[in-house]
Amino acid sequence: MASPHSIYATSLLLLLSFQLLWTISEAVVHASDTFTYVNEGDFGDYFVEYDANYRALPPFSNPFQLCFYNTTPNAFTLALRMGTVRSKSLMRWVWEANRGNPVRENATLTFGTDGNLVLADSGGRIAWQTNTANKGVVGFQMLPTGNMVLHDGKGNFIWQSFDYPTDTLLVGQSLRAGGASMLVSRASDENNINGQYSLVMEPRHLAMYYKGANSPIPMLYWTSIEWFTIMKGSLTNLTLNSVTDPDEGFIYYMSFDYFTTNPSSSSNRYMAYSRYNNTLSYLRLGIDGNLRFYTYTPNVQDVAWELVYTFLDRGSLEGECQLPERCGKFGLCENSQCVACPTPNGLSGWSKDCEAKKVPCKASDFGYYKLEGVDHFMITYTTGDDGRKQSECESKCTKDCKCMGYFYHTDDSRCWIAYDLKTLTRVENSAHLAYIKTPKK
Ligand SMILES: *[C@@H]1O[C@H](CO)[C@@H](O)[C@H](O)[C@H]1NC(C)=O
Ligand SMILES: *[C@@H]1O[C@H](CO)[C@@H](O)[C@H](O)[C@H]1NC(C)=O
Ligand SMILES: *[C@@H]1O[C@H](CO)[C@@H](O)[C@H](O)[C@H]1NC(C)=O
Repeated sequence: MASPHSIYATSLLLLLSFQLLWTISEAVVHASDTFTYVNEGDFGDYFVEYDANYRALPPFSNPFQLCFYNTTPNAFTLALRMGTVRSKSLMRWVWEANRGNPVRENATLTFGTDGNLVLADSGGRIAWQTNTANKGVVGFQMLPTGNMVLHDGKGNFIWQSFDYPTDTLLVGQSLRAGGASMLVSRASDENNINGQYSLVMEPRHLAMYYKGANSPIPMLYWTSIEWFTIMKGSLTNLTLNSVTDPDEGFIYYMSFDYFTTNPSSSSNRYMAYSRYNNTLSYLRLGIDGNLRFYTYTPNVQDVAWELVYTFLDRGSLEGECQLPERCGKFGLCENSQCVACPTPNGLSGWSKDCEAKKVPCKASDFGYYKLEGVDHFMITYTTGDDGRKQSECESKCTKDCKCMGYFYHTDDSRCWIAYDLKTLTRVENSAHLAYIKTPKK
């Protein structure tokens, strides 16, 4: 038998759940605020990034517009476009819902009374959704910052596109530990799937990685150490911001504002600047693995975009040689130029066809050829294996079928195994050696 206490508790619970139900049922999207957009009709007339075809949808906040676009027939991405028709400059894709999972003609984007935003393919398959059904969402909004949000009755964001970056970070957008902590490059102009590069917010810095098809692990080719590094604690979030320096008047900075935990602190670092108001800017991890800031100035007629800063640039500390694919599949790079194609018979002129030979797995079927005064891109920011004899380094590579060569510094006995060769850099120090595998016949 139920005690008076538990009866009281049950009725309280019932009352509470009625109240909860009532609150939730109140928090629905007004029918007039719901929408369904169908991917159909004529394509837009203007030039957009990746030479895509597009269909603009109603959600718009200058200069951002929601669109469907495709670079191959009948494979559409729901994306946010930045740039206006008025400025005549190429409009760019700064956010995407369904990379790698395209939809077809007649796909639908639906914002229902339950507060869920759903991209469904023409057959009904759900390609993407915000998973916000019955979570108190009452409205959809496109903000002037390029943030698309679903908000509750109090204006809190239940979902925001800023939490799901792909390869681009807009001003105001963040990377977060335990959330979206990285950007991933696009494979190519035509192919909208994840590429091989990533920019990752790690506890102490930002880092860029290249993950080749042959490589079991991503290889580090850049960190933010020249810009900032966290000595104590670890990064919790990092936001791209635009700052005007009142003393300098016409200088507008792009800054990374970041927070750490253990201990808690906040700091910021100016990364680049422009002469124009740069509130409308973005950071992009490019198809080529380079990282760049772009600023959009809507009032300029012809060249609304300005490339404000390139991280691995001819003028930067590392230069373009630090880009894994600067010299394609294989090549020797010097002062940002591809200067030679290494072969077992010495260096020959570099071309796009330069490629290391496929090597059989069996140790008796391959040998090594040596290059002097050469480093691999992963060497700049990694320490390698310390205190190794060269013979140990070689044997590690020999035993590993996937190893394409090894790098050895005779001056401090450090060893690196390379699963991808790509761009090698010429260095002054002749104690930096490369041994590249080559088939015996
Ligand atoms: C899209 O739907 C419309 C209307 O139902 C239909 O006429 C058209 O053929 C469909 N388009 C494609 C490519 O399936
Ligand atoms: C970043 O973290 C700090 C400290 O936890 C927090 O106060 C702030 O709101 C966070 N900012 C963003 C954009 O997430
Ligand atoms: C820069 O542009 C933004 C958006 O167009 C505007 O809100 C802001 O007031 C401008 N800032 C300055 C310093 O003019």
